[in-house]
Amino acid sequence: MSRQNEQKRVTVPAIKARKGNDPIVSLTAYSANSARIADPYCDFLLVGDSVGMVVHGFETTLPVTVDMMILHGQAVMRGSKHALVVVDMPFGSYEKSPEQAFSNASRILSETGCGAVKIEGGAEMAKTVHFLARRGIPVMGHVGLMPQSVNNFGGFKTQGLHQSDWPRIEGDASAIAEAGAFAIVLEGVVEPLAAKITRDLFIPTIGIGASNQCDGQILVMEDMLGFGAFVPKFVRRYGNLEEQMAEAIKHYASDVKTRSFPAEKETYSKPEE
Ligand code: KIV
Repeated sequence: MSRQNEQKRVTVPAIKARKGNDPIVSLTAYSANSARIADPYCDFLLVGDSVGMVVHGFETTLPVTVDMMILHGQAVMRGSKHALVVVDMPFGSYEKSPEQAFSNASRILSETGCGAVKIEGGAEMAKTVHFLARRGIPVMGHVGLMPQSVNNFGGFKTQGLHQSDWPRIEGDASAIAEAGAFAIVLEGVVEPLAAKITRDLFIPTIGIGASNQCDGQILVMEDMLGFGAFVPKFVRRYGNLEEQMAEAIKHYASDVKTRSFPAEKETYSKPEE
């Protein structure tokens, strides 16, 4: 394909420039099909390490590997052409040193073609964010409820319920912004704190369970489409695809049992002449 005909994706600077403007729309995507469907409506698609829980059935995101993220990142890149694609760096792939983070992030960027990585963590990750950002790897931060630290938090707990915790969370967010992140996810953060961080930071905040005061929103696609029995407070269900899927599969099973599927029109009945 010539450069002239290349479809232009949303860029990292374009997302950064949306600070305080038109709200940024994003969803998670793990497959080519879901990426294709969400792509026209989203500014960025996140290949979240939530793939471990949503697709692979793990209890937490901790078992997810770089290879898994690359495989899903490649699928999402193939399925999309408009949205910026951001791929999560999984637990254990960046915490040891900025060099370890660079080696895994550069693999993710070069093997998937995605535009940025996301890493969880506050002030302790600032040096790593700076190291990556200065070496051509755009980084989205993620503070507040950080699912990779579920064992430290003692569960998936809302952050900022005690005002005494606010300075730490605000400090984490500003350290990551100062280090060079182009945007930051605020997860499970009470509204007044999310509003304060959004006001104070010069980069966009992307909320999930962090109120409409953020510069943008993200949801796990399967949550908003109606998969799974548990509906967190911050999720709005825009569909009930689990029920529709079960109904379709039940119908198929019944048609197979009664031999009404496949019918004549779904059958190659004549030998080729
Ligand atoms: O992994 C994920 O899906 C995420 C979102 C919840 C922001 O990090």
